[in-house]
Amino acid sequence: MTAVATQEIPLVDLKAQYATIRDEVRAAIDEVLESMQLTIGPNVKAFDQEFASYIGTKHSIGVGSGTDALQLAIRACGVSSGDEVITVSHTFFATVEAILYANARPILVEVDEKTMNMDAAAVAAAITPRTKAIIPVHLYGRTVDLKPLRQIAQDRNIMIIEDAAQAHGALLDDGKKAGSGGRVNCFSFYCSKNLGAYGEAGSITTNDDRLAEELRALREHGQSTRYYHPVVGYNARLDEIQAAILRIKLRRLPEWNKRRRELARAYEKLLSGSGVITPEIPSGERHVFYVYCIRVPGGRRDDLRKYLGERGIGTQIHYPVPIHLQQSAEFLGYRKGDLPVTERLATEVLSLPMYPELTDEQIDRVTTSIRDFMKGN
Ligand SMILES: Cc1ncc(COP(=O)(O)O)c(C=O)c1O
Repeated sequence: MTAVATQEIPLVDLKAQYATIRDEVRAAIDEVLESMQLTIGPNVKAFDQEFASYIGTKHSIGVGSGTDALQLAIRACGVSSGDEVITVSHTFFATVEAILYANARPILVEVDEKTMNMDAAAVAAAITPRTKAIIPVHLYGRTVDLKPLRQIAQDRNIMIIEDAAQAHGALLDDGKKAGSGGRVNCFSFYCSKNLGAYGEAGSITTNDDRLAEELRALREHGQSTRYYHPVVGYNARLDEIQAAILRIKLRRLPEWNKRRRELARAYEKLLSGSGVITPEIPSGERHVFYVYCIRVPGGRRDDLRKYLGERGIGTQIHYPVPIHLQQSAEFLGYRKGDLPVTERLATEVLSLPMYPELTDEQIDRVTTSIRDFMKGN
């Protein structure tokens, strides 16, 4: 009998999702092309309103990427040279890059081992008279508790800027949506995100009318009206095609997030007792599982990754090198050993396939392979 090739299970399957919305997306793209209104037109305006209403803020300002969102948010908050901004080292590089664009100093703090998110006690210990902002990152889709951060920030005139790039639709500790709790908040719609464009896109949400107006100007070269530039801004516009696609996908986001949570529960059940550490599933909707990240203790992570790869199962490491140990961050003066929890997580974390279209059979295959490996097969 000839062997039947087993189908690959990618980390993220964008084609599977596209197949479910293809006709609608094509019609929307066609409409934009027929209109030839390609930037800041009806779709951007409508998406800004629809996304603000979904998040529960007065404003959403669509921009070119999540990195743009962070850069503009930090600038609009008045962060500048000599200021300190506290964030985590266990994050995607862009969080820290955006602080550096403002010539401010990133102060990188430790994460809590269980949640893998910002440790509020570490933030409290890092406050100085130069602290201007705190950027909690809702990593993997799990929201950071904002209450203790608000207590630290209040009376000190320190701003909270949420990096909600990985947490579309997740709930905060006050039951409101991620991206509604900071002075300004940032989202990425990078293609693999829970709400992903088919190119680059991002958004900044805020309840502050003055900041919203400033951000709308900043995304278009600082202009108030066309060709009048009271401030120097950026080219950080969201384009009409991406906005049209995001409007279609936003309508499905609650259902997709629900399926991600179901899949996380299935993973937890099927991996129980296997020897890997599964992520805690907080009650309610505090986690939207952008990434399903397990921990593999005992120095076996890389071997497990290789084993799964040989069986056609895609995985990723989010992230292999903490920011404070990146070559480009050497000038900040951090050393190995400065953030031990973060550094250990970097050697243990492994992200498994996660996307709403993942089937129960595929989850069975992934978890059976992990169990076989951990047993030593
Ligand atoms: C936590 C975090 N912050 C910021 C970004 C930057 O977003 P983008 O890739 O859209 O510029 C990302 C996205 O990849 C992210 O995951």
